Amino acid sequence: MAAVQEMARLQRLLFEVEREFIRTAPTLIYRVGEPELKYLLCQHVWESAGHARFLRERGRELTGFGGGDEVRDSIRAIFHEAVMPADATVALAGFYTVLKPALLGAYRHYLRVTDPLADWPSKKLVEEWILDEERHAREIAPFLTTGGGGLSPDISGPKAPPTAPTSEPTIPAWSAHLAAALAAHGGWLGESPPIPLPAGFEWEHTQRTYAHPPTCNRGKYPTCSSVFGHDPAETPIVRSWLTDPQTDARVIRLMVCVWLMMELDAVDYLATVFYDTPHAPFDLHHDLARHLWDESRHSAFGYRQLPKLGVDLMTLEHSLDLYNILVRMAPHERYAMMTMEFEAGSFPTKAHVMDRVRELDDFEADTLLAFDRNDEQNHVRYGHHWLPRIMALFGETRPVDEFVRATQAKFKEVAARHGGRTPHSLPPATRLTGEKILRLVRS
Ligand SMILES: [Fe+2]
Ligand SMILES: [Fe+2]
Repeated sequence: MAAVQEMARLQRLLFEVEREFIRTAPTLIYRVGEPELKYLLCQHVWESAGHARFLRERGRELTGFGGGDEVRDSIRAIFHEAVMPADATVALAGFYTVLKPALLGAYRHYLRVTDPLADWPSKKLVEEWILDEERHAREIAPFLTTGGGGLSPDISGPKAPPTAPTSEPTIPAWSAHLAAALAAHGGWLGESPPIPLPAGFEWEHTQRTYAHPPTCNRGKYPTCSSVFGHDPAETPIVRSWLTDPQTDARVIRLMVCVWLMMELDAVDYLATVFYDTPHAPFDLHHDLARHLWDESRHSAFGYRQLPKLGVDLMTLEHSLDLYNILVRMAPHERYAMMTMEFEAGSFPTKAHVMDRVRELDDFEADTLLAFDRNDEQNHVRYGHHWLPRIMALFGETRPVDEFVRATQAKFKEVAARHGGRTPHSLPPATRLTGEKILRLVRS
């Protein structure tokens, strides 16, 4: 059985690498500013969750894959290191010019060393994943520059102040640092002879603790605290208009597109939960990755529809309150607010909005809203299934209902202190408001 055990050993390593990518790559999402890049990262994390899932399924058919989902320390250390740069453009380059290419190399190695007939089921899977990894490299390329000077300026936006300004590495220096860590491991699979760490190599993650930034990055886009309000001269979504039968359905369509696009806040705060739950079962991270990708698609619905409906995206302020408040709460509290409060509470209004939009015979809008609703029902189901598990990871022993009520109260307190602090980037005259939406549909 030595041949089987050797292939199971390699699959186990590949599973752990994909798993740890899923846990750590989401730290890039709220730190980069370009929505298209956030969406792409969510898609890659979800595809990686698929790779990991089928690796585990196939691996378990082979003697020697091992039980449990835990990732060994030697792999964890490299991914832990990868999140450390204070500059997200540097961290992004490390993930995509060092760690992901090495994973592609590891899959190719697997194909070279396995028997194509005996291990046919694995071979077919690995062939597919090689195509995925090659595509991921092509998809991310526009967001990376080839020179040593960093990435295209759009994606970075305002940066969190580096914790150690003098030691913040350049992209080439950081990539060399990560490559050295990986070379000391012998590549992900130990397929190359390990090269000892260079003299003076210091692991960043053993010296500093990674922390989520207190606000998320939205790059070049204007920002505000919230897009929901009651005054049509102030905010684009006017709560009373959403449910008022007199409101023009075209106004409702535009407001719901803004609402969907602002699910980017769900993308940003949900992305923080992966890193904070290093000992979650893989199935939990798998479903979180799906949830994350769904939210990024909902946001992309709005991001792509709004310009078609005549909205200049540079006039639409991005709301930062939910990230800013939730990042100050514990991970299980973030997840409870998301699934048990925001998502579970959104159905009645969204149902009404869907009915109104249907009046317009807009097939695309109807389809997007129908899929959004279907996804949201799944998210609430995920919440019921996983909230007790996440609570347990943080030692929370109260009954779920009691915990949710206490968390709702805590959210109100934290919101009073940290919400509403993002001033409007734009004056009412130039930003998208309810009044502007009204004018847009009448013009
Ligand atoms: Fe959503
Ligand atoms: Fe959702």
